[in-house]
Amino acid sequence: MSGPTEERGAVELLLLIAPSANRVYADAAPSLMAAEIRCLADAFIDSAVEAEPVMIADVEYVRVRADGLTDVARRALSNASSVHALYEQEGEDLLRPVRAERLDRYPSDLLTIQKYPGKTNEQLTRLLLNVTAAATTRPERLLDGTLAVLDPMCGRGTTLNLALTYGLDVTGVDVDKHDLEAYETFLKTWMRQHRLKHTVSTGSIRTGGEHRGRRMDVEVAPTKEDFKAGRSQHLTYLGTDTTRLDGLVRGASVDVVVTDTPYGVQHGSHGDRIARNPLELLESALPGWVRVLRTGGAVGMSYNRHVAAPEQLADLLERHGLTVVGDPADDRFRHRVDASIDRDVVVARKG
Ligand SMILES: C[S@@+](CC[C@H](N)C(=O)[O-])C[C@H]1O[C@@H](n2cnc3c(N)ncnc32)[C@H](O)[C@@H]1O
Repeated sequence: MSGPTEERGAVELLLLIAPSANRVYADAAPSLMAAEIRCLADAFIDSAVEAEPVMIADVEYVRVRADGLTDVARRALSNASSVHALYEQEGEDLLRPVRAERLDRYPSDLLTIQKYPGKTNEQLTRLLLNVTAAATTRPERLLDGTLAVLDPMCGRGTTLNLALTYGLDVTGVDVDKHDLEAYETFLKTWMRQHRLKHTVSTGSIRTGGEHRGRRMDVEVAPTKEDFKAGRSQHLTYLGTDTTRLDGLVRGASVDVVVTDTPYGVQHGSHGDRIARNPLELLESALPGWVRVLRTGGAVGMSYNRHVAAPEQLADLLERHGLTVVGDPADDRFRHRVDASIDRDVVVARKG
């Protein structure tokens, strides 16, 4: 973590909301980010914090008032999901720009350039990773590059790309082999175009003589010097069924499991093609996900309320030995995506 950690007096920050091409998400972003900041505050700020959406001269911000902010807390807030710019309020009418300390290690097109039906919104993915990391007993790992991430239903890799962006090691799993193929083609092309030092190896997944799919292992760093010095990141994509991770992902090796679960609706040619009740799928997958989580780690999932009620999901997570963080039915992360998707987020901790 950079710079000295220093407390200051009362601070009022205004977080300008990033523009979003997605109308639905743009409408929900201010209140979603205010709720996200309250979670980040629980993890990174000792003093009392208020966070609320405000409109100033017809422009939307989230206002954060705190009794004091450490450098680490400022860093965490700078990386909230929809931050476009930061300002400190001086007196009644003046906003002073403050440098946002982004974690982002790679050009932003890593997250934005892929477009496909069923892609999880990038800002929602950031929110999910941030609030899940904040719920762990070691939230600082999000900021110092040591948080180990698993997206056990990663599709074409929005979480994987975000983890790379944050400088983290990440594993993704998806049973749809077309998703692995598409992601492999995308990532190889993207790394080449950006002249990043990298290695890629692919092979088949076999356990006990049984063929279980394909895998891809990637090592990448922003510069040759970083790569040589071992400051590279590792990404693994397992093209296999997430309900059978034994022998493929080590126990207690992951800090956060974050995933956008199937919505139980059809997304064109990709996304939720695997016809299965999402709750049944989670029931079979959770034992494996909990096994690979470290004690003190957390699971964060977005899900469709038309498929499961928050209480049902909370009950499922608790039955698998996790402790749900906050009130799952409080609507703070709930937002309507379209007529068939009423999206919400649930977070639960191990131990
Ligand atoms: C909502 S999509 C995730 C989209 C992803 N976040 C993205 O942005 O590309 C849910 C994913 O769950 C995957 N899935 C469904 N059942 C699965 C299973 N049994 N094992 C692994 N993946 C599964 C689907 O193939 C789909 O890609």
